[in-house]
Amino acid sequence: MATTTAPGAAPQEVRPRPARPRTFSGIKPSGEPHLGTYLGAVKRWVEMQDEYDNFFCIVDLHAVTVPQDPAALRRRTRELAAFYVAAGIDTAKSTILVQGHVPAHAELGWILNCITPMGWLERMTQFKDKSAKEGDNRERISAGLFDYPVLMAADILLYDARYVPVGDDQRQHVELTRDIAERFNRLYGETLVVPEAVIAETGARIMGLEDPTQKMSKSEDLPGQAIGVFDNPGVIRRNVMRATTDSGREVRFDPSRPGIYNLLTIYEVLSGESRPAIEARFEGKGYGDFKRALADLVLDVLTPIQERSRQLLTSGEVDDILRQGAERAAPVAGATLLRVKRAMGLA
Ligand code: TYM
Repeated sequence: MATTTAPGAAPQEVRPRPARPRTFSGIKPSGEPHLGTYLGAVKRWVEMQDEYDNFFCIVDLHAVTVPQDPAALRRRTRELAAFYVAAGIDTAKSTILVQGHVPAHAELGWILNCITPMGWLERMTQFKDKSAKEGDNRERISAGLFDYPVLMAADILLYDARYVPVGDDQRQHVELTRDIAERFNRLYGETLVVPEAVIAETGARIMGLEDPTQKMSKSEDLPGQAIGVFDNPGVIRRNVMRATTDSGREVRFDPSRPGIYNLLTIYEVLSGESRPAIEARFEGKGYGDFKRALADLVLDVLTPIQERSRQLLTSGEVDDILRQGAERAAPVAGATLLRVKRAMGLA
């Protein structure tokens, strides 16, 4: 690789550019993946993957910012990888990797820590929400939880990703990634690609089924809040039928009725039908009929994904995919890390 180095300036490298723009995104294997992660992230990745050069990550190092049972973490990491493939991520077009298999993530994370002001991290709403759950008990909040968005910035920046397809709750973290990249480039010369979040208009914030004012996530307090992508059909059907709605009857997209609005949004994203078409389909029918149709639709989508995931897990195919993914990702990440280290005088 050709480099020219002037004193005090970042080395100029002639580096091969990917033919298609890069995307990077990831999911934590800290809980079971649910319909929110599918609709806000994985389904979008599948739809976008032909146009880009994609890296989709299972971010295990992010999961351990809160305590994890080791066996469960290992199991969920494989399951999440299987889910990506079963949902339609094609390894001919996209690289699937486990974050911890590529050590450059942690190394760049450390380096970026050193240029990220504490004040920027103190403003992160997700950290504020998560740490608030521990009340005043600061012994229970890890430094990793505070520092988490810097590792996320490292994930994205290592791959020169231009686009980061995420749900709405990650917008602030991608903004921070931009700030970190811009600050690095100001301090050490143009080195890092400044990425953009790609957030869908519909489906980027799927709400919970029990409490539709809260984002869908697996919650111990509200067991029916999320539809796990690996839940069995009986559980899925029951949770959809029990979803909180209101005393109305009309099946209409009305944001002032958050329960039915959220269920309709799920229907819209899963079916790909327009809002008027969906409203026409359920005209004169009640919430019960609509919920039954929604449960059928969810099962139509998830059942084949569950079956394919099981095959990938039992055949061990998923382990080969992850091994190959790390082999493909490591040189790309390593090249960026070297660029960064050279720019800073670390190499
Ligand atoms: P995580 O694991 O919480 O969520 C993974 C992805 O799913 C989206 N998502 C949702 N979308 C719609 N409705 C919901 N209810 C819902 N819940 C989750 C999230 O917005 C996200 O896109 N910090 C990230 C993981 C990460 C990452 C990265 C993402 C680490 N490094 C680099 C992108 C790029 C996280 O905790 O996502």
